[in-house]
Amino acid sequence: MTRLLQVDSSILGDKSLSRRLTAELVEKLQADIPGLEVAYRDVAAEAPPILSGPLFFARAGGAEPEDSALSADLARGRELLDEFLAADIIVIGAPMYNFSVPTQLRGWIDHLVVPGKTFAYTPAGVQGLVSGKRVIVVSTRGNFYAGDAARSAQDHQEAYLRTTFGNLGVTDFAFVRAEGVGLGEAQKNEALAAARREIAELAAA
Ligand SMILES: Cc1cc2nc3c(=O)[nH]c(=O)nc-3n(C[C@H](O)[C@H](O)[C@H](O)COP(=O)(O)O)c2cc1C
Repeated sequence: MTRLLQVDSSILGDKSLSRRLTAELVEKLQADIPGLEVAYRDVAAEAPPILSGPLFFARAGGAEPEDSALSADLARGRELLDEFLAADIIVIGAPMYNFSVPTQLRGWIDHLVVPGKTFAYTPAGVQGLVSGKRVIVVSTRGNFYAGDAARSAQDHQEAYLRTTFGNLGVTDFAFVRAEGVGLGEAQKNEALAAARREIAELAAA
């Protein structure tokens, strides 16, 4: 049985384009992969706990903290990590906000990047510990960045996601992209159509 985790992070609710596209992508994968089990996580509706110093040290230390709020945050972080580790396919709705990803998505990722669990520091360098996962990022952005050197240098959204998941060992990593969605209705519709073509072309396995 294949397990998929869908993560949405847009703050724009039903006006969100990435939410619309992740839903369509997951629908397509459900049609393609018999018995696909889908878990859903909305990190904008319920923001992951901020990785504070106490939370970081509690997570690294292993002992249950006495502070009940800290203990609850630790459990939430573990839940997010376990959910990620249990999935074979992860579909992430990742809008560009302020040249990067939404705060809540960044907050989710802070619970996935755990030394000894998803990556390790070794004498030979950093080693990713995550294998066999497919990550598909639905990337929406107001302007154009891909294929333009000057604008690509401003892209801390896709670059961040590629680097971060690559660091964890994810090699099967793809983008479905809708760009220039802030540049008028016609361009927005063209961007959505391009993203839908990419969804249609995605191989099932
Ligand atoms: C708070 C905020 C910040 C944004 N920052 C950028 C930006 O830095 N660059 C850009 O090209 N578009 C930016 N946009 C436009 C979004 O990338 C675009 O509206 C996209 O559709 C957002 O995805 P969503 O509709 O799923 O939320 C921003 C939008 C919002 C709401």
